[in-house]
Amino acid sequence: MKIAVLAGDGIGPEVTREAVRVLEALRLPGLVLFEGDVGGMAYKRHGHPLPAETLEMVRGCDAILFGAVGDPDCDGLERHLRPEQAILGLRKELGLFANLRPAKLFKGLEDASALRPEVASAIDLLIVRELNGDVYFGEKGIRTLADGRRQGWDTMSYAEDEVRRIAHVGFRAAKGRRGKLCSVDKANVLETSQLWRDVVIEVAKDYPEVELSHMYVDNAAMQLVRNPGQFDVIVTGNLFGDILSDQASMCVGSIGLLASASLSEGTMGLYEPIHGSAPDIAGRGLANPLATILSAAMLLRHSLHLEDEATRIETAVAKALADGVRGGDLGGTLGTTAIGDAVLERL
Ligand code: NAD
Ligand code: IPM
Ligand code: MN
Repeated sequence: MKIAVLAGDGIGPEVTREAVRVLEALRLPGLVLFEGDVGGMAYKRHGHPLPAETLEMVRGCDAILFGAVGDPDCDGLERHLRPEQAILGLRKELGLFANLRPAKLFKGLEDASALRPEVASAIDLLIVRELNGDVYFGEKGIRTLADGRRQGWDTMSYAEDEVRRIAHVGFRAAKGRRGKLCSVDKANVLETSQLWRDVVIEVAKDYPEVELSHMYVDNAAMQLVRNPGQFDVIVTGNLFGDILSDQASMCVGSIGLLASASLSEGTMGLYEPIHGSAPDIAGRGLANPLATILSAAMLLRHSLHLEDEATRIETAVAKALADGVRGGDLGGTLGTTAIGDAVLERL
């Protein structure tokens, strides 16, 4: 069981350290961790955010535990050299097209949600976000028009096979949960979304037991705060899924709680918190490591098929939160290491 640990930038190393402590505490026979450089720190060391040696190392592993990338010092670089290209490159190179971002209200966090407690307590949803296409990977540029004005442009597109495979992931997930799938698009304006909707409806024929609905993304953003309990599984494109998942995180208390799994057709998976490198709090021991610890649990479940060990981690996190273990993001005072300690004690 070879795991690549790519801690990255900002709070990435701080939160990854806690997740690694939790993994090591399980004493899993045969588990080996390999560290690699990625993001702005890799650019500074090797001149590239995703060095060839990192890519080669991860290709020899069974799964990746990823922290975060992003460094304000690098925001002026040419786009292909920016830290974010490391995570986008890994997702594309490894065919990690299916991004699972679960959001559930932990007991004891009712008052930490940005929503009223009775609204928040009903939240148990899964965002299935497409990760290899959309406006993220289309042709783009900044050009000068004939009249001398600069114009920025990006291309949004989805091919039907790309929609079909993520729709299957959404339907299968819904089948294993409460049987409800909501496909989120902007088909009233975008042709990309019209095709998305058409293909999702075609795929639905294979899943008569799943109740399919469609929602425009603007309405979905509103419904997510009005009545988030209505959602079971949401399937959506890369851009909409990015935005809605950050929003969902505050509905359950903090972006420092939301884990994710990025899966391919094979067994390789990448596991990371949904948050970024948080330069505003980096290096101060203030970051909440729970999203990364919960990502490690997803790694055990999805890539190593260690369901019991995954549940042990999740139970330890739930107990810690129920006992009032909180960092600043949840209105508490504990730092990164203390939160990690609290999870380890309960593990
Ligand atoms: P961010 O998620 O890094 O931070 C947003 C806000 O949430 C900040 O106020 C931050 O302090 C807070 N926050 C985030 N994670 C937290 C945690 N674990 N505990 C407590 N507070 C937390 O988003 P941003 O500020 O828009 O982006 C910063 C950098 O991260 C950018 O360079 C961006 O491109 C990058 N980014 C990377 C990833 C990734 O690696 N997958 C994801 C998102 C953003
Ligand atoms: C995320 C991040 C990334 C994304 C960035 C850093 C490229 O926001 O993982 O949610 O937009 O997918
Ligand atoms: Mn994001």
